[in-house]
Amino acid sequence: MDKIVITGGRKLKGEVRISGSKNSALPIMAATLLSEDESVLENVPDLRDIQTMLRLLRSLGARAQFEKGTVTIKPGRNLNPIAPYKLVSTMRASVCVLGPLLARMGHAEVSIPGGCVIGLRPIDLHLKGLQALGAKMEIQHGYVHARVKRKLKGSEIFLGGAFGSSVLATGNVMMAACLAQGRTSIENAACEPEVVDLANFLKKMGAKITGEGSPRIEIEGVKKLHGAKFPVIPDRIEAGTFIFAAAVTGGDVAIKNLEPSHQNAVMDKLAQAGVRLERGKNTLRVRRKGRLKPVDVTTLPYPGFPTDLQAQMMALMSVTPGISVITEKIYPDRFMHVSELNRMGSRIMLEGPSAIVHGVKQLSGAPVMASDLRASAALVIAGLVAEGTTEVHRVYHLDRGYEKIEEKFSALGASIHREKE
Ligand code: EPZ
Repeated sequence: MDKIVITGGRKLKGEVRISGSKNSALPIMAATLLSEDESVLENVPDLRDIQTMLRLLRSLGARAQFEKGTVTIKPGRNLNPIAPYKLVSTMRASVCVLGPLLARMGHAEVSIPGGCVIGLRPIDLHLKGLQALGAKMEIQHGYVHARVKRKLKGSEIFLGGAFGSSVLATGNVMMAACLAQGRTSIENAACEPEVVDLANFLKKMGAKITGEGSPRIEIEGVKKLHGAKFPVIPDRIEAGTFIFAAAVTGGDVAIKNLEPSHQNAVMDKLAQAGVRLERGKNTLRVRRKGRLKPVDVTTLPYPGFPTDLQAQMMALMSVTPGISVITEKIYPDRFMHVSELNRMGSRIMLEGPSAIVHGVKQLSGAPVMASDLRASAALVIAGLVAEGTTEVHRVYHLDRGYEKIEEKFSALGASIHREKE
């Protein structure tokens, strides 16, 4: 296993190029199953989760390969509709193959992904949406067995859960509805840019979708979809992670190849915190001179502040004078990073779904344990500003979602490298 070793205290300076979005690429890769033709996806990041999805698609019978940021997938006529526990348990996004398999093959058996370290993660909305399209669902031996007699049928579906909309459930139902008979409307659909990207890919395959990016998506089913060539959008969470890293070190970083409009909630909070942000067409320059100010943040579905940047925001607030309150409304248990940040000298207390952050003058480097992808990113950010050396263990979490993270930070002047444990 590898660890990341960081010596803190250097201001980040220069330019960093953002990779393609993991959370966009994964459902789009699953969507290619809706046609037997070959699809070509560009700007796909080289990450462990992408490799897992390629393995899953191959196990379903598709030909799938990755080369220099381009994924080529040819599902072919016959698919094996079983997504095994071995793969689904390592990556929840595997559940995205459920809708496409059901729509193409009339039958799917997909292992139920368990909860994970960020909390309970049920799939009831995925099942409810697909049932509304006419699928019969049974849970047996840890698998969802989904079947449809002849064809899925368009329907009016309300997809709201206890924590609001669901990104991947919206994607799953939207994918299946593309090949259903008649019209489907999804009410309380997720509005995340990754849902819009998926809809754009499906439209390139010949699907008829309107309303993506709003809480009501309409889909007119078509008989067949064809293969398509498509570039995936830039990763807004990777971009946000570099924005926080630049801000925490008091540096001057130009973030390239991002979509600035995806960062509105982040930019609003950082402007309140005293960070200077200059927005270009596909760039954002992040600078800070002077003291940071505390801000309160609540995570919400898009366009609200993303839960996937909550931990990174906490790393920044942990060295911001004053008290900030960070409330998690998507995953109320997503606070595994708190105890690790506190080992580095931060003063963070938990009160239910809120973290009360008392900013400290200085963090001190320490060996810390990454517990999940975004928690790991927060520990790297803390390490960049801490006095002394931080070792982030269990780096495989970072490798699930950040492409060449230590190379990108090194190029900005950070003292960071990877070592074998
Ligand atoms: C996506 O997960 C992302 N993953 C997550 O990113 C992200 O944190 C999340 O959206 C929220 O933005 C991918 O895109 C691969 P949800 P998803 O369904 O779609 C509840 C990362 O670090 N819910 O939008 O699975 C759920 O428990 C990952 O890159 C139900 O109740 O999340 C949560 O409270 C982590 N029933 C809320 O909805 C369901 O059937 C939103 O989850 C589904 C979800």
